[in-house]
Amino acid sequence: MVAIKQRIVTIDGPSGGGKSTVSRALAVKLRFTYLDTGAMYRAVAFQCRQQGVDPADDHRLETLLSTFRMELLPPDPGEDDVRVLIDGQEMGSQLRTPEMGMLASQVSALPQVRQTLTRLQREIGAGGRIVAEGRDTGTVVFPGAVWKFFLDASPEVRARRRAAQLRNKGELVDERQLLAQIIQRDRDDRERPIAPLMAALDALTIDSTGLSVDEVVRQMYDRVLAVSCCGEK
Ligand code: DC
Repeated sequence: MVAIKQRIVTIDGPSGGGKSTVSRALAVKLRFTYLDTGAMYRAVAFQCRQQGVDPADDHRLETLLSTFRMELLPPDPGEDDVRVLIDGQEMGSQLRTPEMGMLASQVSALPQVRQTLTRLQREIGAGGRIVAEGRDTGTVVFPGAVWKFFLDASPEVRARRRAAQLRNKGELVDERQLLAQIIQRDRDDRERPIAPLMAALDALTIDSTGLSVDEVVRQMYDRVLAVSCCGEK
């Protein structure tokens, strides 16, 4: 089946590769909306934890997914992270801990969770003009996206960058533990049977190991300008 072309940029890749910073900057340059799909998986993980729902309990998970209300708002000025509201309550940095990342990775392997969030993401992206960031946005959520990127970097570099980000926020960081978590999460995200982390066949892979954020954004922006969308130049 040939997917209908959509005016959408997708940026997939492993955790800590700088996707959020790059996606947000590119969205601003293009005047597109930034869609952080990882935040949605983190929100579901957080709700499971809050409500004491065992994600393996299909029935309770189904109820949770059909009743909770999630809103994504643009980041505060100077911040990278989108603001997430669950049932009207702002989640703040609680969603951004390494532990919540691990839990999000676990719940993201469940078919019910993926179906619900994929549907929501497609609703949000239906009108186009979106920069979607995640693991499967180019392969599963928006296969018809015109501009697809896969952003990679070595686990060591990603752990170092993530540690710097967390330290900037005043948090104590064990970099070795962070590296172990990144390697584990990569493996889980790549090896799960549904919507595993991988580059779409038509994605441009960029290794950001030796590149600054500005350089990565520039490469992506140039590509968006160079590849026409939907019959237009
Ligand atoms: O991008 P992130 O670190 O906020 O994502 C948290 C987890 O959510 C990630 O380890 C896997 C999952 N995820 C996913 O399965 N599919 C996506 N499109 C985005 C995130």
